[in-house]
Amino acid sequence: MWHDQLAAPVGPGKTVAMSGGFSIQIFLSSDDETDRLGRTIAPCLRPGDSLLLAGPVGAGKSHLSRAIIRARLGRMEDVPSPTFTLVQTYEDAAGDLWHADLYRLSGPDDLVELGLEDAFQSAICLVEWPERLGPAVPEDPILITLSPAGEGRSAMIAFRNRADLQAALKGFAHE
Ligand SMILES: Nc1ncnc2c1ncn2[C@@H]1O[C@H](COP(=O)(O)OP(=O)(O)O)[C@@H](O)[C@H]1O
Ligand SMILES: [Mg+2]
Repeated sequence: MWHDQLAAPVGPGKTVAMSGGFSIQIFLSSDDETDRLGRTIAPCLRPGDSLLLAGPVGAGKSHLSRAIIRARLGRMEDVPSPTFTLVQTYEDAAGDLWHADLYRLSGPDDLVELGLEDAFQSAICLVEWPERLGPAVPEDPILITLSPAGEGRSAMIAFRNRADLQAALKGFAHE
């Protein structure tokens, strides 16, 4: 399954290379660290990139999305959680930026109606509850799995063929 393939667990701060892939586990001690991670990831995203945010309710998926969206827009945009609307769209310098929360998705028809599969091709997409995508999972996603860790959060980040993001995340972990 895509999830298991990409996110083989490794120790905190450790990285593991998997057949052209890369993964890193990062500890985020506070909201501010989640914001910093968002600012680190944001400039590495390009149209056609899908960032899948997995993890339980309260793990920080929306918080991280908000940080990425604000960094991309270059302003403190109001970023409501798309829990009920399923999708919120923004426009940044590179094009459309989608923020989806699929928790309340009722089925595959909903996905078609949302137009998310087309957006995967042309926009930057941030997707909470990506498990709900089923077979509509985009190719070569950036997968971030957030989980509670003491007072903070742990982020497991996995992807393939992204030298810029890889370098940025290594820099983040060593700061
Ligand atoms: N690194 C962190 N350490 C502690 N709390 C965090 C961290 N990152 C985010 N949070 C907090 O987690 C809470 C839930 O975040 P949210 O993004 O709404 O979760 P989700 O979208 O995964 O359900 C927010 O109150 C946020 O401030
Ligand atoms: Mg959320």
